[in-house]
Amino acid sequence: MKDIKLYINQHKDRFVDELVELLKIPSISADVAYKNDVLKTADAVKIALEKAGCDNVEICETPGYPIVYGEKIIDKNLPTVLVYGHYDVQPADPIELWDSPPFEPIIKKTDKHPDGAIFARGACDDKGQMYMHVKALEFMTETNQLPCNVKFMIEGEEEVGSESLAWYVKRNQEKLANDVILISDTGMISNTQPSITTGLRGLSYVEIEITGPNRDLHSGLYGGAVANPINILTKMIASLHDENNHITIPGFYDNVEELSLDERAEMAKAPFSLDAYKKALDIEETYGEKGYTTNERNSIRPTLDVNGIWGGYTGEGAKTVIASKAYAKISMRLVPNQDWQEITKLFTKHFESIAPKSVTIKVTPHHGGQGYVTPTNNVGYKAANRAYTETFGVQAIPQRSGGSIPIVALFEDELKSKTILMGFGLDSDAIHSPNEHYGIFNYLKGIETIPLFYKYFTEMSL
Ligand code: BES
Ligand code: MN
Ligand code: MN
Repeated sequence: MKDIKLYINQHKDRFVDELVELLKIPSISADVAYKNDVLKTADAVKIALEKAGCDNVEICETPGYPIVYGEKIIDKNLPTVLVYGHYDVQPADPIELWDSPPFEPIIKKTDKHPDGAIFARGACDDKGQMYMHVKALEFMTETNQLPCNVKFMIEGEEEVGSESLAWYVKRNQEKLANDVILISDTGMISNTQPSITTGLRGLSYVEIEITGPNRDLHSGLYGGAVANPINILTKMIASLHDENNHITIPGFYDNVEELSLDERAEMAKAPFSLDAYKKALDIEETYGEKGYTTNERNSIRPTLDVNGIWGGYTGEGAKTVIASKAYAKISMRLVPNQDWQEITKLFTKHFESIAPKSVTIKVTPHHGGQGYVTPTNNVGYKAANRAYTETFGVQAIPQRSGGSIPIVALFEDELKSKTILMGFGLDSDAIHSPNEHYGIFNYLKGIETIPLFYKYFTEMSL
């Protein structure tokens, strides 16, 4: 495309400044205290889309946070790209582990980002990646090079399960009709080796409450004679994995898709250093399901992990008490063909069945979603690969990710189109963690690569 590098060079400071402004708004969807900020962010996205050249930009009300929609339809006979992203972010805590305040973005150099990275909650997930699409559109409209139709759909509940978006998509199939869905909300291998995410894991998230005696008890007077809910809970949780780190829930693996040895050999070709992986995390050894490599364990295999556990006395000093209740939050990452609602049922049934009579168990399902795999032999994948090859000088590698974007499977069901996941983040960008950041290089490279996707997708579709 003409002059894209020039355009980015001329406008890069403004591109960064605009993103910095967006990152200052704490759009934490999980916490109602931030409701006004989430809504304010939707407004900011609306204005940005208008400025970038979108028509019919609207704040679409839903039962929850609104969807920002905008479009640029240039010719009904040309293909249509639907861009999806999210303007909400994860909570920032534990806040004390941030080196700078999460909503006061600063730019710092890192080993992985010698050109600098923006540090802020949402920098990579997903404001920075979403905003690349807005700036890519600006470039294409400003220079009269938009090759096809485009629709934007940016939501504010991705980090809490996308319930309102599901509601919205089901009611707006025609309006959202498209030939391909384009998302930047994943990662790539490194700044010299782009990759295209070809799979996402599904998710089942449950919360457990276990009750023993009807009140907290003196651990001397009652200790040893009644069930301690924390002891029981930890024992039950420990039993969910066997000595090979297989999950013990009956039926859990029934529908798991087993990859062929050829497919696994293909996967193993992706550049990966186990030593660098261990070093980056300060661990002596990795840990996981027997018979699978690290990259397999975190992409093509399902998991069960405690995400939070609490109960009893956790304040200063010691208090001798047997708590009446104990709690845990558990996430199960699923692979294609595992149905998340079915897995939630299997979990609940199993967990209830292994509980001793001395306690009562309550399992509350939270959100969930199906996994996703996308083929590499379609126009969307090929166009994305061509775009990356042009901007990075090497072909992109297909890679299945361990993360989840549950709404992607629903897009396919409701809108009947494939999703292309062009992510520009790095695993080391610390999404969901303290000190989340996004490389300036990645941000600008995204803005440069996206218009080429439009170009090749249009050329190859016609
Ligand atoms: N953008 C992430 C998902 C992601 C990140 C996928 C990196 C692949 C690579 C998304 O915002 C996210 O955090 N999803 C949640 C699921 C959601 C239902 C809360 C997740 O994966 O935990
Ligand atoms: Mn995200
Ligand atoms: Mn996220």
